[in-house]
Amino acid sequence: METGRFRHLPGRNFSLKIGALTLPNPVFAAPMAGITDKAYRILARRAGCGFVSTEMVSSEAILHGNRKAAGLFDLEGEPEPVGVQIFGSDPGKMAEAARVAASRGAALVDLNMGCPTPKIVKNGEGCALMRDLPRAAAIIRAVREAVSVPVTVKMRKGWDAREVTAPELAALAEENGADAVAVHGRTRDQFYGGKADREIIRLVRRAVHIPVIGNGDIFSPQDALRMLEETGCDAVMIGRGALGNPWLFRRTVHFLATGELLPPPAPAERIGLALSHLDLFLSFKGEKTLPQMRKHLTWYLKGLPGAAQKRAAINAARTPDEVRALLLAYLKEMSLSSLSPL
Ligand SMILES: Cc1cc2nc3c(=O)[nH]c(=O)nc-3n(C[C@H](O)[C@H](O)[C@H](O)COP(=O)(O)O)c2cc1C
Repeated sequence: METGRFRHLPGRNFSLKIGALTLPNPVFAAPMAGITDKAYRILARRAGCGFVSTEMVSSEAILHGNRKAAGLFDLEGEPEPVGVQIFGSDPGKMAEAARVAASRGAALVDLNMGCPTPKIVKNGEGCALMRDLPRAAAIIRAVREAVSVPVTVKMRKGWDAREVTAPELAALAEENGADAVAVHGRTRDQFYGGKADREIIRLVRRAVHIPVIGNGDIFSPQDALRMLEETGCDAVMIGRGALGNPWLFRRTVHFLATGELLPPPAPAERIGLALSHLDLFLSFKGEKTLPQMRKHLTWYLKGLPGAAQKRAAINAARTPDEVRALLLAYLKEMSLSSLSPL
């Protein structure tokens, strides 16, 4: 049985302050490109997650009035607060983009200093800023001066094993007015390989006074508790663990608040939510975007009896109605199989 300091939380204030923003709990949804769109964010919030933000949006694209970029931070019709994450390497443009995001309802502006993708880092953006600390500091300062909403910085452990700059960047972030930092415990050259390092998050925690959000490899409520206990961080951020599994937010919040582990969702619940996610997704993006939704469906069904066959049928289906019919039939099958015999 897991125990820990978070067991004393029931009855205490479980909320977290990031600047002037008070969040109901310390469990964040990690920004993920191509995934954390409006439908995902709404479902994550319904599942009890304390804070959601958009995927990274290019500051240059925001300033050029690019339609796709504008769509990425269209926050219309979703519950507040929502953060907007921006990336770029020019302090003035980042400040201007932050101002645009705040004027469109961003409750917080998060600065991406962790993206490892070659096409981003070759422009001096994302994780490349972890090896250009004066520029990183200038960006944070410029954004801080440009907006009144909280400003946060999301970073990795560093560039590689020789350039582990997270504690230094976090201290610079605090000095230049950031309200919190999120740290993914991998270096840029690890991408998503190996294990996320929790020790670096402990070192960042010791380097600053602002809240630190620990991120990397949280796949269960117990992983979240370990992250909080071992690093002393103030909040956790969950990315891949919640794919097709938004229940992880509720189960984690509940576990941290009470020490009680809720059971994972039943197969029928998973299929039911896949259907709701499909409808929400298509209602925002249009029926033609079905192909972009398939990955979510695969994640929801992963590990269920007969999932491989169902996935193949769903991938072969041409229209949203065909997919709905397949999911409904599967839901019926799973609901019947879960009834106990008399
Ligand atoms: C498909 C995918 C897209 C991502 N996109 C972003 C992004 O837009 N901005 C960002 O800061 N991090 C992004 N990340 C990194 C995650 O936010 C997170 O730091 C990382 O996945 C580690 O957390 P996890 O182990 O809980 O998944 C992305 C990760 C994945 C898997």
